[in-house]
Amino acid sequence: MSALPMSALTTPPLALYVHFPWCVSKCPYCDFNSYALNGALAAEPYVERLVRDLAAQAPLVAGREVISVFLGGGTPSLFPPEAIGRLLEAARRLLPLAPVAEVTLEANPGTIERGAFREYRAAGVNRVSLGAQSFDAAMLRTLGRIHSPAETCRAAEELHAAGLTNFNLDLMYALPGQELSAAVRDLEMALALSPAHLSHYQLTLEPGTLFAARPPALPDEDLAAAMLEECAARLATAGFGHYEVSAHARPGAQCRHNLNYWTFGDYLGIGAGAHGKLTFAARAQIERTAQPREPRRYLAAADAALTHRAIGSDELPFEFLLNALRLTGGFDAALFAARTGLSWRVLERRLAAEAERGLLEMTAESVRPSPRGLRFLNDLLLAFLPETPKKTDASRLSMPCPGFVRTTESPLCTAPSGRSGE
Ligand SMILES: C[S@@+](CC[C@H](N)C(=O)[O-])C[C@H]1O[C@@H](n2cnc3c(N)ncnc32)[C@H](O)[C@@H]1O
Ligand code: SF4
Repeated sequence: MSALPMSALTTPPLALYVHFPWCVSKCPYCDFNSYALNGALAAEPYVERLVRDLAAQAPLVAGREVISVFLGGGTPSLFPPEAIGRLLEAARRLLPLAPVAEVTLEANPGTIERGAFREYRAAGVNRVSLGAQSFDAAMLRTLGRIHSPAETCRAAEELHAAGLTNFNLDLMYALPGQELSAAVRDLEMALALSPAHLSHYQLTLEPGTLFAARPPALPDEDLAAAMLEECAARLATAGFGHYEVSAHARPGAQCRHNLNYWTFGDYLGIGAGAHGKLTFAARAQIERTAQPREPRRYLAAADAALTHRAIGSDELPFEFLLNALRLTGGFDAALFAARTGLSWRVLERRLAAEAERGLLEMTAESVRPSPRGLRFLNDLLLAFLPETPKKTDASRLSMPCPGFVRTTESPLCTAPSGRSGE
């Protein structure tokens, strides 16, 4: 399996991802590993299972500090603050959580009771990612969202009032029948709520979703590109730095958890369908872990149900690039060597060829996507597919970030205009 030299592999920073698989209802565009809640939420048994999962996996990372926790879904905000508090307490007991660890909770504006954010904050949450999607009431209905624009605005007000000013808004564009002016209006409405971070995703039709089965009429590529460009310009004017394909942040408010994915850091993944990535530098091995996808199977599973798969060194350059080329600032040879144990020489020739095509900008020992490379990231990544695609194949190019658990079985973070971690 290992054709390339593994030399400089070092132990990277470690994060924790926790998956909450239920939503009030399933949005027609969404292929995350999420399920419409049928009946009452069994919060307690799920949190108990998460704690058991964490206790079983903690020995894999003994002594390593955890820099961030991401409570993602699905809709984690369906879980009451006490349940989230119990989970975070257990995380602190079982792992050395950094004193300044970033702890993000994904929230759907339709699930936030008055005062809830204060309680989440008291439970240990210090960052929130709110799924706004659009501020057009009719569009929200088309998207199957359970909230109104007013509820998103109220949730943002509550975040400010609770002192949780470090929050992200998820916004989608190139929505069914959307005009340029409507996409820009959505962005302006989002900015008016003073978020610290904004994730701007182009709507993609994902296999297995209702929208893929009955595709709505979407803006064409040129219109989608115009929306992207105009919104990016407005974000820049508003003081947001564009640091990843879909992510924009005020200075100092970049998402540390997602940056760890994009710099090919390690993470434990607990919860239904959660994936992890762990580096064992002493034995020059990088592994992926995965839990059973279906909540019922996960709840009933023994600790041994966690699967482990070593990433072959022939797959590593591609896996690294799937993440690192999402960053507008790119990466350098030292990071590539530290995270993969491979020499820059392994990449150099192919990088130079892509720079020739105008998709990359290179110096002797660093590289970043050009604006065109960022726009056509899938094309760019295809050039780096391993020669005999086995587990790593082109289908992964439409996969999301590792933190997001979709219905498909890949932990990879790849969709250039798709979800990237918020
Ligand atoms: C796990 S969800 C966020 C939290 C919460 N479940 C919600 O929807 O409010 C992650 C984000 O991915 C984005 N997303 C999901 N499916 C998408 C698709 N097909 N195309 C583009 N963005 C998508 C949405 O912006 C969504 O907020
Ligand atoms: S977009 Fe969010 S709320 Fe909608 S189904 Fe997916 S995870 Fe659930």
